Amino acid sequence: MEPVDPHLFVIFGATGDLTRRKLIPSIFRVMTEDGAAAAHNLLGVSRSDGSDDEFRQFTNEALHTAGYDGSLVEEWCRERVFYHQTERGTTDLDSLRDRIEAIEADLGLSGNRIFYLALPPVAFSSVIDQLGRAGLATGPGWTRLVVEKPFGHDLATAHQLNDQIHAHFDEHQVYRIDHYLGKETVQNLLAFRFANLLFESAWNRDRVEAIEITVAEHLGTEGRAGYYDHAGVIRDMVQNHITQLISLISMEAPNAFEADEIRNQKVDVLESIAPIKAEDVVYGQYEAGVIDGEAVPAYADDPEVAAGSNTATFVAMRLGIANWRWEGVPIFVRTGKRLPRKTTQIAVVFRRPPVCIFHGVKDECSSHQNVVIITLQPNEGFEVRFDVKAPGSPLTLVSQPLHFDYDEAFARLPDAYQTLILDVMEGDQTLFVRSDEVENSWALYTPLLEMDLPALPYPAGTWGPAAVDERLGLKNGWVMRDV
Ligand SMILES: NC(=O)c1ccc[n+]([C@@H]2O[C@H](COP(=O)([O-])OP(=O)(O)OC[C@H]3O[C@@H](n4cnc5c(N)ncnc54)[C@H](OP(=O)(O)O)[C@@H]3O)[C@@H](O)[C@H]2O)c1
Repeated sequence: MEPVDPHLFVIFGATGDLTRRKLIPSIFRVMTEDGAAAAHNLLGVSRSDGSDDEFRQFTNEALHTAGYDGSLVEEWCRERVFYHQTERGTTDLDSLRDRIEAIEADLGLSGNRIFYLALPPVAFSSVIDQLGRAGLATGPGWTRLVVEKPFGHDLATAHQLNDQIHAHFDEHQVYRIDHYLGKETVQNLLAFRFANLLFESAWNRDRVEAIEITVAEHLGTEGRAGYYDHAGVIRDMVQNHITQLISLISMEAPNAFEADEIRNQKVDVLESIAPIKAEDVVYGQYEAGVIDGEAVPAYADDPEVAAGSNTATFVAMRLGIANWRWEGVPIFVRTGKRLPRKTTQIAVVFRRPPVCIFHGVKDECSSHQNVVIITLQPNEGFEVRFDVKAPGSPLTLVSQPLHFDYDEAFARLPDAYQTLILDVMEGDQTLFVRSDEVENSWALYTPLLEMDLPALPYPAGTWGPAAVDERLGLKNGWVMRDV
């Protein structure tokens, strides 16, 4: 790895959960792999009372929890970690600017700065505005702004937030996080498709019958019901993560593996997705049920959920991409909480052979289809299913897998945040969401959200409401594969 430019990493929301669990360990890991401690300097910014020493202790504990101890931790915290308290309700960050300049002068830094907004979304716009007004949107070196998800609540709020950002920052300075894009397996979708010619000639409407995307969680809202009840499954999972998977699996080849080339292709495919119709969507909300032999309560029984809430914890829907490659190929999406198991999987299901020559055999050729299965979690890897003749007679066809497993092939997958933080330090925007991409995604789902469709009940531990197969399969008898 190339050494990163020496910089000051400024985290807003320094006392928060994300900072403690993900950001501090990831920055430290990048620093140890980079081997240049002097390049990595951290300034925590929050409204809570605190001092450099207290934040060093907080950092030390966060690293200890993540499994890091020893003299490098002690030394880095003592020499490279700082804290700045902002006044509650303040409208300027002049004191922060002075503090940044003082730290940079002391450490001999040339003024490269990362501002990471690890804040609740309600605080994004005022901090962005304050950074601009304090003259911190540009500096003596490079300046980069990292914005956490969720980015907006609908098209109007996403557009407004983009306008507020662009009033002070250029788009090339902005890194909108979707941590799904930091996962190795998600990035590998690009390698799988564009480094291997094998599948390209079959990756289209002539050969593919359907694409299925399943993102199943077996957990419920886990203490986040207050947030979740206002968000629901489309905002929590579909508008961001699943839409990234749809674009990566269906986009055209970029001219180069470069941020804007790739993001142009992703935006193109998003613009081609046909408006979603109510009849192609089934929402669900989990009732009490049993998962892994344990009884679990209903969503509605969580005290943070509003009485009579219609918030969907599950959606299955059918999308279509109106372009030359994909017209007529349904993309089925299924995601929800309290499903039988945790898995994220994309299945590209190929058409059957045009003529069946195996009439009369035990399993006719029409009974199996070639499928490319890409598993993002758990057991990350790929599988291609194809038919073979079982030994002996009568002639019998069985579906068999060819598979690649990450764990078998490679030692360790880096954490998504570590990947993304290194990219920010290196100025690589490939894995971050561009302003037009986020708005195109909201443009697709905002009309659906406005329809306010009913969420049908499903028992926890099942694959969603019974209406899913009947409703989504109406047009072609399609039933989503078991995962
Ligand atoms: N936690 C995760 O695993 C996770 C995962 C993915 C994405 N995210 C996103 O990352 C961001 C931060 O998440 P988090 O879980 O760390 O949040 P958090 O713990 O709720 O908040 C982070 C910090 O922000 C400060 N804060 C709270 N309300 C504020 C306000 N109105 N104005 C200014 N500062 C405020 C608080 O510090 P002070 O009171 O000291 O200022 C708090 O410690 C969110 O946007 C979240 O959606 C989090």
